[in-house]
Amino acid sequence: MSKKLRVAVVGVGGISGAHIPSWMAMDDVELKAICDIRPEMMEKYPEVRHYTDCDEMLDKEELDVLDICLPTFLHVEYALKGIEHGLHVITEKPVSLHEDDPARVYKAAKEHGVQFMVAHCLRFWPAYCYVKEAYDSGRYGKLLSASMWRLGDIPLWTWDDWMRDEKRSGFIPYDLHIHDLDFMIYAFGAPKTVSCRRSKEPDQDYLTALYDYGDFFITCESSWYKARYPFTSGFRFQFENALLVNADDVFSIYDTEGNVLHPLASADDSNAQVEFPTSDAYFNEILYFKNCLMEGRPVDIMNEEQLTTVIHILNSFPGAINK
Ligand SMILES: NC(=O)c1ccc[n+]([C@@H]2O[C@H](COP(=O)([O-])OP(=O)(O)OC[C@H]3O[C@@H](n4cnc5c(N)ncnc54)[C@H](O)[C@@H]3O)[C@@H](O)[C@H]2O)c1
Repeated sequence: MSKKLRVAVVGVGGISGAHIPSWMAMDDVELKAICDIRPEMMEKYPEVRHYTDCDEMLDKEELDVLDICLPTFLHVEYALKGIEHGLHVITEKPVSLHEDDPARVYKAAKEHGVQFMVAHCLRFWPAYCYVKEAYDSGRYGKLLSASMWRLGDIPLWTWDDWMRDEKRSGFIPYDLHIHDLDFMIYAFGAPKTVSCRRSKEPDQDYLTALYDYGDFFITCESSWYKARYPFTSGFRFQFENALLVNADDVFSIYDTEGNVLHPLASADDSNAQVEFPTSDAYFNEILYFKNCLMEGRPVDIMNEEQLTTVIHILNSFPGAINK
């Protein structure tokens, strides 16, 4: 591998706006090229080479990494393309709507001696990292219950309206709910039982799910409402000795002594009471992947089994595309 990590991004739509600046901000990375079938999407990045055909980019550029910010239904096809070119691959979530795809991708990555990661940003989101650390350390006693939510309206802005085509996006389970489920599988493992109720209509999709872990349970709500409801996400984790709450982008700890702490508040915020770094999860996930590659470490924050379990559960939901 050359001294700088040589990266290309394919898909320069919505989420690439979090990936491209992250790569550009890293001194030991050279963002060599970007690719989108719509040339105008790339105009705001004149400093890198532009392609409208990913195969041409992969043939012409000397690269180490392919970062995939394409619509969901293209993730596996392009991950395999990148891997077969001998590139390490990071792709946006979800890896796929099909349960057998994580195994195909990991098998190919192993055969080509490259690393693979899905950009599941909650695994790098400070408030969610705090919950995982509190659970692992037992700092606030046992976890009793949790509620997680991710609510918004149906996306109308995507290229070719692919989000509103269930075969290409999988709708709410695979677009928004997957964030919370992936975090659960990462932090707590697979639940003992899952139940879900869902209301799916043209242009709206809402679900509520109950995950029973035996000692504790988690309820989740996810929506694409047809009404123009502004996006909101958050959680309440009820431990024996504290309630951890993330709402309206504020993380708070309500302890059982009557105190309210804001450990993730920025350093210049007078509410900050405990040291914990605040940072951008999208930058952090890319930094983690880059550091693993540069330091020759495995990308072991996730694995094939976790990614497969997530799709397996989503595919069991009422009305799921691959049920
Ligand atoms: N992690 C998150 O918080 C988060 C947020 C939004 C989206 N996403 C994920 O990111 C992915 C992309 O979503 P988006 O909102 O950016 O979609 P988008 O439609 O805005 O962007 C996709 C881009 O891919 C381009 N494209 C389509 N086919 C192509 C091809 N064959 N070759 C090259 N370019 C092609 C389109 O022109 C478009 O610019 C989705 O899988 C979505 O689930 C993740």
